[in-house]
Amino acid sequence: MTHTYSIQILAGDGIGPEIMAEVKKLIGWINSNTEININTRDGLIGGASIDTYGNPLDDTTLAQCRKADAIMLGAVGGPKWNDVEYNLRPEAGLLKLRKELELFANLRPALVFDALIDASTLKPEIVRGLDILIVRELTGGVYFGEPRGIEDLGNGQRRGVNTQVYETYEIERVARVAFELARKRGNKVHSCEKANVMESGKLWREDVTSLHAKEFSDVELEHMYADNCAMQLLRNPSQFDVIVTDNLFGDIISDEAAMLTGSLGMLPSASLGHVGSVALYEPVHGSAPDIAGQGKANPLATILSFSMCLRYSLNQGEIADKIEAAVKGVLNSGTRTPDIMADKCNQVSTSEMGDAIIAALDT
Ligand code: IPM
Ligand code: MG
Repeated sequence: MTHTYSIQILAGDGIGPEIMAEVKKLIGWINSNTEININTRDGLIGGASIDTYGNPLDDTTLAQCRKADAIMLGAVGGPKWNDVEYNLRPEAGLLKLRKELELFANLRPALVFDALIDASTLKPEIVRGLDILIVRELTGGVYFGEPRGIEDLGNGQRRGVNTQVYETYEIERVARVAFELARKRGNKVHSCEKANVMESGKLWREDVTSLHAKEFSDVELEHMYADNCAMQLLRNPSQFDVIVTDNLFGDIISDEAAMLTGSLGMLPSASLGHVGSVALYEPVHGSAPDIAGQGKANPLATILSFSMCLRYSLNQGEIADKIEAAVKGVLNSGTRTPDIMADKCNQVSTSEMGDAIIAALDT
């Protein structure tokens, strides 16, 4: 029986449209070669939306997102929109989307492909076989806390304020996702905060500890200060299985983990909300305005995000497996975008990388 799904596409800014074009190729391949049928609808977010609607996420776009089975997003932001107010910046569109859809659990898997071991700045023996899942809280913390703003103190001085705030339900729901996922993997969770200096971190630690005792005592739990976690990720990354942490520390730690894998261009992500509600898939990297429009961007993080979309939102694990195997095969054959280029490999453009994935799926 044919299943039909609808995906809302928000390509965004910078390299967003280029990398999303490669996902559209994959969708075309799926529609002609499998039992399932995916309809797509394009919408605007970030700077592209500012230029058209005067705001980074329009209500009509948001309403379309709510109706879709899943959302694929490219990237937002760029120098053109740097000087606008915070709530009108391209990034605010993405933050609004996460918040409005209550996408509180952001899964960022850092996986080292054997073929890319030399692309990592770390020694091969440190990163070989690495498979870490970062679960980042995505709708709370300092990203959304009030009060916030820049205040003029009237004496030639100004005051910038942001507020880190977490409530028990926010900590518990994201920790629950981390524990449940750990059960299907290495059964180990590191929970990271700064309980030594922040009350919100102390609460985080206490709430994770009590949830663990109540529901997940079969899972190994270790608490770690976020600065130590950043250091341990470089010193001995294979000690980690699942890391659960807040919005800001998760933002930082996931960029760091991305580089363990060789390139920010390789890291996918899934942002999940309540069971059964629409989820968002996007690469961890940004809009890379410096290389936009030049065919240099690596589409693999977005392609791997699409594979997460097939797995988590469309329940099509088999097709996701195929796409991931195709990515592995293409990397093994030495096909590389500039960011992961190595000796004796074959450098290709963004769209040639997409074609290579399709060719691998066809064989
Ligand atoms: C990310 C990005 C975003 C964030 C920006 C673009 C708002 O860095 O998804 O990691 O800070 O969350
Ligand atoms: Mg980030």
